[in-house]
Amino acid sequence: MIDLHCHLLPNIDDGSRSAEQSAAVLEEFARAGVTDVILTPHLAASQMSLDGDRAVERREEAFQILQRRAPPRIRLALGFEIMLDQPLPVLAMGDRRFALAGSRYYLVEFPLSIVPQFATAALSHMVRSGVIPIVAHPERYDACSPVAVSDWRSAGARIQVDATTLTRPHSRGRQARALLEHGLADVVAADNHGDHRSVRTAAEYLKAQGAAAVAARLTTGNPGAVLKDETMQQVDPVALRGGLGDRIARLFGG
Ligand SMILES: [Fe+2]
Repeated sequence: MIDLHCHLLPNIDDGSRSAEQSAAVLEEFARAGVTDVILTPHLAASQMSLDGDRAVERREEAFQILQRRAPPRIRLALGFEIMLDQPLPVLAMGDRRFALAGSRYYLVEFPLSIVPQFATAALSHMVRSGVIPIVAHPERYDACSPVAVSDWRSAGARIQVDATTLTRPHSRGRQARALLEHGLADVVAADNHGDHRSVRTAAEYLKAQGAAAVAARLTTGNPGAVLKDETMQQVDPVALRGGLGDRIARLFGG
């Protein structure tokens, strides 16, 4: 499996505090079957024009520190998780240091109260410039709905759902599962901050639901396409037990 969203560069954002803490997480990832990790510290679009170079330097310094302790059996690559508090500067879209592993894919997030149409405009702006935004954890947003996320995908964005949110009982979990049920998720990632979150949770959950092929595409095929800068494949809608399909079946006496 390949995890393209985590905060394991030590002491650079609100993620892991030390190389030792990160190394322990990476060991756990390796035991779970993760082969590649993209390290994605937070960066605000509003900082990129003035402080972008400094952010890249700080990332490189933290990466050197981590590499001394990281288990060699996991390959590490670099990216950012970019908060689109303003549209992504055009210069950043031509500068693949801000992309995931130097590809055309950029991992982006929005303020929690984002208005869906504003997000669509910001994502379309990126696509028109020749890059592919991957929207991190849309299930967090108040405005998250299959209709809004479908618009974002139609604009050319791809969608990353957090692996451990899928199994949560309440609203974010429901929103995440609804995206899978509508075939609107392209990738799952851990968004690990030096804790116990792992893509394995999503893989096991989906396999238990009889959706092993979907699990493979979300955890291996599509994140692998990002690493190779190739096109992601469509993920089939999945009927989750206790999900939308079951609720409709109950409604009609099934
Ligand atoms: Fe994140």
